[in-house]
Amino acid sequence: MAALYTLWMGLALLGALGILQTPAEAQVSPQPDFQQDKFLGEWFTSGFASNSSWLRENEDQLYVSKSVVVPMENGGLNFTNIYISKDQCNTRSLLLQPEGTPGYYSYKSPGWGSTREVWMVDTDYEDYALLYTVGTRDLGQDAHVIFLYSRSQTPSDEVKEKFTTYAKAKGFTEDSIVFLPQMDKCLE
Ligand SMILES: *[C@@H]1O[C@H](CO)[C@@H](O)[C@H](O)[C@H]1NC(C)=O
Ligand SMILES: *[C@@H]1O[C@H](CO)[C@@H](O)[C@H](O)[C@H]1NC(C)=O
Repeated sequence: MAALYTLWMGLALLGALGILQTPAEAQVSPQPDFQQDKFLGEWFTSGFASNSSWLRENEDQLYVSKSVVVPMENGGLNFTNIYISKDQCNTRSLLLQPEGTPGYYSYKSPGWGSTREVWMVDTDYEDYALLYTVGTRDLGQDAHVIFLYSRSQTPSDEVKEKFTTYAKAKGFTEDSIVFLPQMDKCLE
């Protein structure tokens, strides 16, 4: 009885501390004291690390893209992303819904009917931001992707290094880390 009680108390404590979570949540947490208002404005998606087979197969068709981030009334973020595809500039809005904790969002992919979780894991707001994302279906079953966002089209070596170090610490191999080439079209 005593042993069972101790075990139960232990589990209750772990639960209260938020340690009993899904594996992804246990590994990833947003930057402490994430300040969404400082994150607004213009960003360039300049790289990613992933184990998504879709991204790997299509990476030679991907270029640096631009996003303009504005807040939504519900506390989420609206990313208007301008990207190049088949030599055309395309625009789409990615709506990140707030999930209670600052820096933690979910994104429902309209085309795929799947949900992707997004954590703002590290940012200095002025140069770079690292977004850790986990989702199903859209980029392949249980694909983990870390995106590098930079305020300039070409991130500094220091920022690239920071991103590479973070991705490797999360178990991504060197060959899964991609810095996207630039195409001036669609970036003005
Ligand atoms: C997101 O921003 C775009 C561009 O400003 C706008 O057209 C769209 O209505 C916005 N969507 C929401 C839900 O705020
Ligand atoms: C990607 O990596 C994560 C974390 O290691 C793992 O849980 C997941 O199953 C992997 N997904 C694929 C498609 O390899």
